Amino acid sequence: MPAYSASAPGKIILFGEHAVVYGYPAIAAPVLQVRAKAIANADPRGAPGTVKIKALDLSLETTLADLPGEHPLAAVLWKAAAAMQLSHIPACSIQVSSSIPIAGGMGSSAAVSVAILRAFSALVGHPLSDEQVSQLAYEVEVIQHGTPSGIDNTVITYARPVYFIKGKPIETLQVKHPFTLVIGDTGIQSPTADAVNDVRQAWEKARDQVEGVFERIGAIANAAREAVEQGSVEALGPLMEENQALLHKLGVSSAELEGLVEAAHSAGAAGAKLSGAGRGGNMIALARPENAEEIARALQDAGAVRTIVTEIRTP
Ligand code: MEV
Repeated sequence: MPAYSASAPGKIILFGEHAVVYGYPAIAAPVLQVRAKAIANADPRGAPGTVKIKALDLSLETTLADLPGEHPLAAVLWKAAAAMQLSHIPACSIQVSSSIPIAGGMGSSAAVSVAILRAFSALVGHPLSDEQVSQLAYEVEVIQHGTPSGIDNTVITYARPVYFIKGKPIETLQVKHPFTLVIGDTGIQSPTADAVNDVRQAWEKARDQVEGVFERIGAIANAAREAVEQGSVEALGPLMEENQALLHKLGVSSAELEGLVEAAHSAGAAGAKLSGAGRGGNMIALARPENAEEIARALQDAGAVRTIVTEIRTP
């Protein structure tokens, strides 16, 4: 019996997090060094409809029937079965593992969904299109995060840098001159839903003021689009700085993130900002290939539990 395996990358948001939930543009890119992986195996001796689930990082070993329907691992399989119009689910096992930090703003939940959708649909013999995979992963994100913009499932499904506006067709970016980022992980788990809810409360209390911040973040994402495609470090650095100041104003930065941003500056980064929902999770620093390692060391000395040097490029 063949095993069907699929994997999906992590992601970072370069510009526009939070404002993207309210319809403003954002730019994100895949991070290929970290991945979620799913392996689906047919279980010829299993009772019909029995799906064994093993999630190594969650220390979870169970069956689909024993998981609540809204559990993300169950929801993704039920949604896949419905999309494929399966009259019965074949007996099988699904094993999931991931090297993407959980609740770290790097898209771990969307990547797990995308990997499962691809492995499970291949096992069933009904591979789903990228559009279907992204849509189904989005629906699972809604269960987990409430009001996701859809940027995570999009960039992770297509595994390319994207310019994204909620509800609009995906636009991939052609990065003509790749550039280098160093990702620094505060090691602090920060559920996306919490940060997004707090921003919503701030928006409800002072709508004009917070909407003004979103507008400026959106304008930065628009200005950054060309800079990303050109790989212009000179243009990207100041835009990242400005975006970080606005995220701080929104209340989603933290002492730990600010500490890493400061350390990146001291080590010569051209710009730095938090990436994703904020509060904890990850930050990104814009490097030159020759000072990336130095910046990574500076981030570790300042408390980063992990650093990743990555290149933003169009595959
Ligand atoms: C999460 O990666 C980015 C946020 O903007 C939430 C979202 O877009 O759904 C904070």
